[in-house]
Amino acid sequence: MATVLAFDVYGTLIDTHGVVAELEERLAGRGHGERAAEFSRRWRDKQLEYSFRRGLMGAYVPFDRCTREALEFTDRALQTGLGDGDRDHLMGVYGRLPAFPEAAEALARFAEAGITCVAFSNGTREAVEGLLERAGIRERFEAVVSVDEVKRFKPDPAVYAHLRQRLEVAPGDTWLISSNPFDVIGARHAGLHAAWVRRSPEAPFDPWGIEPDMTVADLDALAERLT
Ligand code: 2OP
Repeated sequence: MATVLAFDVYGTLIDTHGVVAELEERLAGRGHGERAAEFSRRWRDKQLEYSFRRGLMGAYVPFDRCTREALEFTDRALQTGLGDGDRDHLMGVYGRLPAFPEAAEALARFAEAGITCVAFSNGTREAVEGLLERAGIRERFEAVVSVDEVKRFKPDPAVYAHLRQRLEVAPGDTWLISSNPFDVIGARHAGLHAAWVRRSPEAPFDPWGIEPDMTVADLDALAERLT
């Protein structure tokens, strides 16, 4: 049976910190331009924390709402004084974040090798379709699988079971490709193979005794290994 690669989206294909330049501009207007990188990091961490907490509470909402509420929280925590207009603008930017520079070429290599690729995300299908389209890589994916279809967030085992069901391939033939250790561990725990895209050489992996099947520095290196 053919292998399917299921790519995580935010942080793996799409650079969530691609919002820093716009953040810097908006924050500069409030006298906090130098805090843009810190703001972006904390925004992303809080967005994920909200998804985990909502998962535990059984209080699912579309991921965009986690993103917006995390933006508002970060603004409050850092006392950066963004207005409604700034927040609307930044959410718009979040909907057109760039792909990582090597993504398009690596995906082309998988296509040439006849490997099926799908996108698999916490984001709603609509948000992910738009994001991939604007980043110019939508055509490389046979499908977009969203956790919204089961109203749970990663790393709930239900979302990986749903992925397998949508793909109709055996667990051992499904590879999750993700830069997010919690996603890699979630997929391994659910019986899938998983590759960790360790985008920063300093990035630590959780010491849970559940290891990725493969660790690569970026998608280029993944294509090198798999094609
Ligand atoms: C995604 O599901 C986890 O944010 C990551 O796209």
